[in-house]
Amino acid sequence: MADFELKAYLGERKQWIDAQLEKLFPAASGLEKSVVEAARYSLFAGGKRLRPILCLAAAEVAGGSPEAVMPVAAALEMIHTYSLIHDDLPAMDNDDYRRGKLTNHKVFGEAVAILAGDALLTEAFGLMAEMGSNGGFEPRKILRVIGIVVKAAGYRGMIGGQVIDLESEGRNVDITTVEYMHIRKTGALISASLEVGAILGGGSEEQIAGLKRYGHHLGLAFQITDDLLDLEGEAEVMGKTPGSDLAKNKKTYPALLGVGRSRESAREHVAEGLRALGIFGETADPLRAIAEYLLVRKA
Ligand code: IPE
Ligand code: IPE
Ligand code: MG
Ligand code: MG
Ligand code: MG
Repeated sequence: MADFELKAYLGERKQWIDAQLEKLFPAASGLEKSVVEAARYSLFAGGKRLRPILCLAAAEVAGGSPEAVMPVAAALEMIHTYSLIHDDLPAMDNDDYRRGKLTNHKVFGEAVAILAGDALLTEAFGLMAEMGSNGGFEPRKILRVIGIVVKAAGYRGMIGGQVIDLESEGRNVDITTVEYMHIRKTGALISASLEVGAILGGGSEEQIAGLKRYGHHLGLAFQITDDLLDLEGEAEVMGKTPGSDLAKNKKTYPALLGVGRSRESAREHVAEGLRALGIFGETADPLRAIAEYLLVRKA
C-alpha cells in the first residue's frame, strides 16, 4: 500500500470524470442557456471530484466495472456542486470564492445561482433514472440506488445537516449535535457514494455494508478536516476563503473541541474507516490511501 501512487491515481480519475461530465452535462443553446452556463461554470471550476472517485473505486472493489457506473458517479458530483452553489449564497454562508473562482451568485446573480443549483440537482436524478431504462442495470437495482441518494441528499441527509448548520450559528450546541450535523451535511453523500458504487459493482451485502461504514467515517473525517482548513488553510490552495466559519460563528469541531482534539477525532475516524476495509484485499488500496490523505490534505 505504501507504494500506491495516490496523486497519479486521483489526477487520472479526475480527468476521466471531467471528460464524462462534459458529455453528460453539455452546454445548451436555447433561450434557457444562461442557467446551463451558470451550472457549468461551477461544475467545471475545478473541484477534487472526491465523491465520484469514491463511487467508481467502490464499484471496482465490489468486482464491477467503473465505466458502467460513471453516470451515477457524475450525478453525485452534480448534486455536490449544486450543494456548494447554494451553500455559498448570501442567505447561507455568503462566500465569495469557491474552487478558485468567484462564487456562482457573484457572477450570475442570486436568482440564476439558485436555479443553476436546482438544474444540477434535477438532472442528476435524470441521469440515474436513465441507467435503469437503457438496459445496463436492472431497474430494481437503480431504484435502490436512487432511494439511497434521495435519503443522503434530502432532509434526512445533506439538507438536514445544512439546516442544522444554519440554525446553530451563534447558538450553544454540544459536540454531539455537531457530529450529528456533520454526519448529515457531508458524511451522508460521501457514504452514499461508496454504498451505491458497491451496489452497482455487484458487491455482496457484506461488502456493501463495509464500504458504507468506511464512507461514514471518511465523511466525518472529511468535514472535520474541512473545519480545520477553514482555520489553518491557505486561500490559494483551497480555492475558498479561510476564516469564513469564525466570521459566522459556525459550530465546527475546532470551535467546540479545539484544534488538537479535532485532529485526534479525525485520526480516529480514519482509523475506523480503515478497519471497515479489513474484509478487502489490495483492490481497496486506493480507498486506504484516500483515507490517509485526508489527514494531510491542504485543499
Ligand atoms: C467542500 O467539499 C464542501 C464540504 C462538504 C466540506 P469539497 O472539499 O469536496 O469541495 P470540492 O468539490 O473539491 O470543490
Ligand atoms: C458545506 O459545509 C457542506 C455542504 C453540504 C455544501 P461547509 O459550508 O463547511 O463547506 P465549505 O467550507 O463552504 O466548502
Ligand atoms: Mg455551509
Ligand atoms: Mg460553506
Ligand atoms: Mg467548511
